[in-house]
Amino acid sequence: MKGIILAGGLGTRLHPLTKITNKHLLPVHNQPMIYYPIQTLINAGIEDIMIVTGGNSAGDFLKLLGNGKEFGLKHLNYTYQEGEGGIADALSLVEHFAEDEPICVVLGDNIIEKNIRAAADEYRNQGKGAKIMLKEVHDPQRFGVPELDGTRVLKIEEKPIEPKSNYAVIGIYFYDATVFDVIRTLVPSGRGELEITDVNNHYIKRGEMTWNELDGWWTDAGTFDSLLRASNLVAETGANNL
Ligand code: G1P
Repeated sequence: MKGIILAGGLGTRLHPLTKITNKHLLPVHNQPMIYYPIQTLINAGIEDIMIVTGGNSAGDFLKLLGNGKEFGLKHLNYTYQEGEGGIADALSLVEHFAEDEPICVVLGDNIIEKNIRAAADEYRNQGKGAKIMLKEVHDPQRFGVPELDGTRVLKIEEKPIEPKSNYAVIGIYFYDATVFDVIRTLVPSGRGELEITDVNNHYIKRGEMTWNELDGWWTDAGTFDSLLRASNLVAETGANNL
């Protein structure tokens, strides 16, 4: 399985912090934000990693990370997203890298306390389709929210005003190689982006979506509140089982 970290976007919710640098290079407690998703993949046994970035400071990722020696990697792959096409648009850029293998996609601003090893192993055994990870939250309106029927996920709604559950679909996804065909069928949402939630709903309709509940805390870090929360959580307990 290959790993993808999506670290593009303009980070407008963090202006002026992101006026001269990329959101994923900002500090979260004592490390640059991008370090956490890299460690998430490595902890899941995934070492063939591509980082999708964009914007003016894309070159700084290379300066910071190089070939990933600090993480014990031999090599890191990079690609560049032009503009602000959304998560699924960024994902479409890694088709040549994936080479028909399954992929684990991590949003670059998603930080976890523990690890996703068990979910990754389950997905390896699943063989096809997709897997998402859920976490109970107090503010589901900010996220993709699943409608559940027991252990079955019926549908996901992106930032619903009236959420159908208290779970968020966190930014860690497992897909088979058909994900790129799914992305080609998408149309931009109200916010002008190709939505990852639409990709996930395709797999649900095909009856090929499974989910796991994440163990330990999870946070995104794309707003002032969540960036502060991320730093505090890392300072209190550490992240990625480190
Ligand atoms: C994105 C996804 C959303 C998901 C969230 C996790 O939201 O669209 O479904 O719950 O990441 O961080 P965004 O950060 O683009 O608003």
